[in-house]
Amino acid sequence: MDVHITLGGPGDRADRIYRQLADAIVDGRLREGEPLPPTRELARQLEISRTTVSVAYDRLLSEGYTVARVGAGTFVAAGGARVRRRAPRGGEVQPRAAWRPPFSMEQPHEEFAYDFAIGVPDPALFPLDVWRGLVSRELMPGGALVGNADSAGYGDAAGDPSLREAIARHIGLVRSVTAGPEDVVVTSGAQQAFDLIARVLVTPGDTVAIEEPGYPPVRALFESLGARIAPVPVDDNGIIVRHIPPRARLVYTTPSHQFPTGARTSLERRAELLEWASARKGVVIEDDYDSEFRFGDRPLDPLQSLDRTGRVIYVGTFSKSLLPGLRVGFLVAPESLTPALVAAKRLSDWHGDTVTQRALARLIDGGMFAAHVRRATRVYAARRDRLLEAIDREFGDAVRVVPSVAGLHVGLEFAPVVQADGRRIADAARADGIGVRSFEDFAAGPSPRRGLVIGYGVVQFEHIDDGVRRLGQVIRRHSHLP
Ligand SMILES: Cc1ncc(COP(=O)(O)O)c(C=O)c1O
Repeated sequence: MDVHITLGGPGDRADRIYRQLADAIVDGRLREGEPLPPTRELARQLEISRTTVSVAYDRLLSEGYTVARVGAGTFVAAGGARVRRRAPRGGEVQPRAAWRPPFSMEQPHEEFAYDFAIGVPDPALFPLDVWRGLVSRELMPGGALVGNADSAGYGDAAGDPSLREAIARHIGLVRSVTAGPEDVVVTSGAQQAFDLIARVLVTPGDTVAIEEPGYPPVRALFESLGARIAPVPVDDNGIIVRHIPPRARLVYTTPSHQFPTGARTSLERRAELLEWASARKGVVIEDDYDSEFRFGDRPLDPLQSLDRTGRVIYVGTFSKSLLPGLRVGFLVAPESLTPALVAAKRLSDWHGDTVTQRALARLIDGGMFAAHVRRATRVYAARRDRLLEAIDREFGDAVRVVPSVAGLHVGLEFAPVVQADGRRIADAARADGIGVRSFEDFAAGPSPRRGLVIGYGVVQFEHIDDGVRRLGQVIRRHSHLP
């Protein structure tokens, strides 16, 4: 291993070599068992005599930093890595004044006996063997990285052509999104899609309308770029369009499965929103993050396919249908915006990881993605049914489940007489090992809605009844629930 050693400065040379190697051992850059460079090689590199290096090595050996193995060389001894190396502390340079992300994107890892987490799929359902095979194939000669016509340099900023083709076909079939491969931009999750949209559409000071309660990472993103956020209330029919303030030109919405209440935006509201966009020359971001998992009714047409004037940007992700760690999402924009969005993607990171993109294209094209979604939907449907039955049994008329037909969570509203404060209950429930969230947790201001958000992505089927019963006990302690 090459070790960077600086010879200038005070002390003799052997002493400087000794000190720098000792520091590297103490702070863990050189780990137990790792070889030091041979004295001859280090002397050559530093253009000094081998004797000087040997003096430093003898001292390291005599002080127990290293051990010598005859014929093999000098190795780091046990007991190093006692000090953590850090970048300079307490620097003077501060982020620009407007940089105040209002919402912590860090997700504390909490363990719950009853984990009703929202927005996370069950990793046990991920088709790991199939995926491993597809990724391995891309790592062979002729795969995504080496030995194919595109692998010599950087790829297409809009995403691997095979994946754009597969996505266009897939969303055209299952969601009736109107798009060809050239309309699809592959992104690092939905979050990067929102970032690219913000880069090309938002000027600091602009107003962006966001559902309230709504998805905090999107709110934080737009705020961090200098936008003003206008929270727009939602009801069982989705975003209440008449509450969009006149100054807003950009609206973020989750019509298939409102985040977090779970409501589906009605056809009337969809039409109203498109009329708003057309009359105000506005743009609608349609975040369709988890509607692959459907329960019951035929889905309503997405805003994107109802739009006749090119004012909707459709955003999708594989974070729920596969896994968030893959970091693959996409957007479908009107033709007038696509070149700017592709340029923004190139500026941001050139393009995503081609191994993942090509493996995913094959997963979709080979029908394995659809098979996985069908299988996962059956598992989630069973959990969801069990959850709804348990809620009905435990709470009866004292709560109302917000009608929903897709996704991995449901919203639960309390009757007014219950006088329940969602945030207080969710906090108390989590302290008791029941992982739920509240509508209030996702509101920008005083929430217009009070309730709980209960996910069934990761909770185990056999934990559901017990979890809901215990949730009932918590709620009774903190409200007037009978
Ligand atoms: C409303 C909403 N949109 C989008 C996403 C997906 O984000 P990403 O694709 O960046 O993982 C999530 C994930 O939790 C979400 O809840």
